Amino acid sequence: MKKSPKLSTRITEISAAGPDGWDLFRRARAMIAAGEQVIELTIGEHDIRTAPAILQAMHDAAKQGHTGYSAIPGTPTLRAAVADRITAQTGVVTRPENILITPGGQAALFAAHHAACDEGDTALFIDPYYATYPGTIRSVGAIPLAITATPEHGFQPQSNHIAAHAAGASSLLINSPNNPTGAVYTAETHAEIARICLDHDLWLISDEVYDSQVWDGTHLSPRALPDMAKRTLVVGSLSKSHAMTGSRVGWICGPEEAIEHLINLATNTNYGIAGFVQQAAIFALAQGPAFEAEIAAPFERRRKITQALLAGQNLVQASTMQGAMYAMLDIRATGLSGESFAEALLQQEKIAVMPGESFGRAAAGHVRVAMTVNDDAYRDAFARLLQFAQNLAGTQKRRA
Ligand SMILES: Cc1ncc(COP(=O)(O)O)c(C=O)c1O
Repeated sequence: MKKSPKLSTRITEISAAGPDGWDLFRRARAMIAAGEQVIELTIGEHDIRTAPAILQAMHDAAKQGHTGYSAIPGTPTLRAAVADRITAQTGVVTRPENILITPGGQAALFAAHHAACDEGDTALFIDPYYATYPGTIRSVGAIPLAITATPEHGFQPQSNHIAAHAAGASSLLINSPNNPTGAVYTAETHAEIARICLDHDLWLISDEVYDSQVWDGTHLSPRALPDMAKRTLVVGSLSKSHAMTGSRVGWICGPEEAIEHLINLATNTNYGIAGFVQQAAIFALAQGPAFEAEIAAPFERRRKITQALLAGQNLVQASTMQGAMYAMLDIRATGLSGESFAEALLQQEKIAVMPGESFGRAAAGHVRVAMTVNDDAYRDAFARLLQFAQNLAGTQKRRA
């Protein structure tokens, strides 16, 4: 019998780098499926579901007939609603023509790289990184090149490191507020990034899906910096800001010409998103910043719980808890790698956290804690994690 024809290198190499870093998460899920009680502090998803009023809007829209093919770039009303949110947040006058609606921020990341990079081009990104970044870049046939941001610099990327790799690259992908580190880039970091993009004629792909979750400092969109609107593709989403992860509503905001071409990509790939979801997104955006603050509030509360518990010890450190829904913990003082620590914590305490190593090399010796269970359960789990670290360090000392 004949074998299947050869698959394209582009698709077989998406995960060519080996394990995707989600082993521990899958193991935790398998333990839960087998009936074990595991506290999951792994993925970035709220412990609440999408608000009933948004679901009602979705239901009503479907009943009213928004079930056929919908506007591929997004309906004019939805594009305008996203543009208005961006104008209000950044002060940059943004029009519906600057917006393409996509099936979530992930599709926007893919489309943005598709627009910025030709086959074989170099696409820069910052390590630690959101797990899909290198695979997304490889999916468009470009070559991912990681720039390290270290804990010693609060995970702010250093301009000399970026500049050293910028010559000949096509794009730079940044993410502030950052997953996994919780860093919010400073005005200086953004200014330096903008300067490098201008000097080296790079597209800046700015992933701002956590823009509603800033606890320390302010969210800056680099598109607002001088001359940057022409070379910035902003990736946004309702997943985190409106607890709508499953609805798959995201966008790219960029120069009109780029958006026109990106609409062709949408026409030839996903053909837009469901009309009833677009109507629900319009309703969700109409709830305004107060609603977004309500969705973000639990993470701010749990951040305070985290900081209070960390203050009672000096073994485990969290250098950056400026934004997003994660605490990135430096557990190097326990003598374990992030992977070994997370593995032991799962086996012994039945608490699942992500090893820092899942997000690149720069977060080795760290674990990422998603603050995604209710406050009491979170307080209890975090206290147990710290006690576990203390016990480990004690054992190390006795051995030494
Ligand atoms: C940094 C970052 N970018 C993009 C995404 C993708 O979000 P979406 O659900 O909108 O596809 C995520 C999801 O966790 C994320 O953490």
